[in-house]
Amino acid sequence: MTEPTRLAILYGSTRKGRLCDRVVKWVARELAHYPLIELDIIDPLEFDLPVHHEGEHPAVHALAARLSEADAFIIVTPEYNHSFPAALKFVLDLVNEPWHGKPVAFVSYGGISGGLRAVEHLRVVLAELHTVTVRDTVSFANPWGRFGEDGTLDNPIEARQALVRMIARLHWWSAALKPARLSRPYRSIAA
Ligand SMILES: Cc1cc2nc3c(=O)[nH]c(=O)nc-3n(C[C@H](O)[C@H](O)[C@H](O)COP(=O)(O)O)c2cc1C
Repeated sequence: MTEPTRLAILYGSTRKGRLCDRVVKWVARELAHYPLIELDIIDPLEFDLPVHHEGEHPAVHALAARLSEADAFIIVTPEYNHSFPAALKFVLDLVNEPWHGKPVAFVSYGGISGGLRAVEHLRVVLAELHTVTVRDTVSFANPWGRFGEDGTLDNPIEARQALVRMIARLHWWSAALKPARLSRPYRSIAA
């Protein structure tokens, strides 16, 4: 672990009053302790994305540029109707190439399922985007009231342990894939 990983956290929810703000803050707080992680937080709401699918829109180019800078991703997602939010699918459908040949890990939340059904659906979609998804998920079942506005978490030990394990694996993939992408651009085999 010598090369820093440029890690982007992507918001899965754009809902007004979303819990996602607190969960993202918790992840960012935890990762602030890692000297070898350069963190970016990508919130689709900041981009003023078009309502319709429009690849040549300036906001889509701006989003693509941010995603391109990342070596690895954590998607923080809730579960909506036994899957992941439509707003996240829209983002994934807008931008394709910046995902290629990169690893993705998940932090999920929801009711009894802890958002795991959302994650399993995401794995299928992310395979189509030529990513590698990390086996682990940091999952929160019924986390209502556990997250403070500033991203503090009640009873954090188990979640922290799961995050540490997941980050080690994400970092492993990132360190393996970054030089591979540089020596042989994924574009040459993606089409
Ligand atoms: C449209 C919708 C559908 C939902 N469906 C599920 C579900 O299938 N399973 C579940 O565990 N929670 C479900 N929930 C509860 C969400 O997991 C919970 O509201 C969570 O806080 C949503 O994340 P957000 O506040 O960051 O948007 C649903 C919530 C919404 C708004």
